[in-house]
Amino acid sequence: MTEMSKTLEGKVALVTGAARGLGAEIVRRMVAAGAQVTAADKRVDDGAAAASEAGAQFIELDVTDAEQWASAVDAAADGGRLDILVNNAAITRVVPILDCDPAEFRKVIDTNLVGTFLGIQAAAPTMASSGGGSIVNLSSPSAFEGTVGMPAYSTSKWGIRGLTRTAALELADLGIRVNAVVPGALRTAMTRRPGWEDEDYERHYGATVPLRRMAELGEVADLVVWLASDQASYCTGGDYAADGGLGAGSPPPIPESS
Ligand SMILES: NC(=O)c1ccc[n+]([C@@H]2O[C@H](COP(=O)([O-])OP(=O)(O)OC[C@H]3O[C@@H](n4cnc5c(N)ncnc54)[C@H](O)[C@@H]3O)[C@@H](O)[C@H]2O)c1
Repeated sequence: MTEMSKTLEGKVALVTGAARGLGAEIVRRMVAAGAQVTAADKRVDDGAAAASEAGAQFIELDVTDAEQWASAVDAAADGGRLDILVNNAAITRVVPILDCDPAEFRKVIDTNLVGTFLGIQAAAPTMASSGGGSIVNLSSPSAFEGTVGMPAYSTSKWGIRGLTRTAALELADLGIRVNAVVPGALRTAMTRRPGWEDEDYERHYGATVPLRRMAELGEVADLVVWLASDQASYCTGGDYAADGGLGAGSPPPIPESS
């Protein structure tokens, strides 16, 4: 990790889905930037270990549960102060529409979309009473197009785009900014596919991403840290991509070696 300036000094943050992957990296980078961070996840053992390593507090939170959200905001707030909420927790199911069990579809929507809604609803009053804040929701390239084999995930991320904009409009007068970050593909548990080796990921993302590779966790986490900071004080209601150019379209084919 490169030396970070203390852009979040004095800020109090709550990050969901922080037991591993991108959420754990966001916690690390926010602590490095000077924030007091509470890492939340339903995965207790991994979450507590990752938080302690990063220098953050850990709390158990299932983002689909409104009561747990109320306790999480209480636990994260310091003297009634909460400045930052990152709605990062998410799940996916890789199964096409015709084979998708409706209960599984609902579970993905409940976790990714309703979980984000509950987080905004729980955190905004505390943020407003401490003078405002910044909410960052994790979006996806799947929020901009259909995604074969991931109908529930894609639908949930499209929903987060609408929710982010609506929250930005409704909460602006309370001093709360709300934005979405669009990560490119990351090498995490979420993208692991049965039977895929490292070379398969490199071949696939090398051919389909303009920058010819997957994202490093820090390349996305730094964007989240920036949006959470006062450096982004005029940014609200936007989608901010760290996607290797995916949103611009498809890269030219890699010439076949002769
Ligand atoms: N991995 C990618 O390539 C990629 C690409 C675009 C967007 N994203 C988004 O980035 C975010 C992080 O993804 P990741 O790759 O680190 O995923 P991950 O699967 O590695 O981590 C997700 C975390 O969320 C937690 N979680 C799941 N359900 C929960 C619940 N009900 N309550 C609390 N915590 C819960 C999990 O326990 C896990 O720790 C997600 O919002 C994802 O949609 C990921």
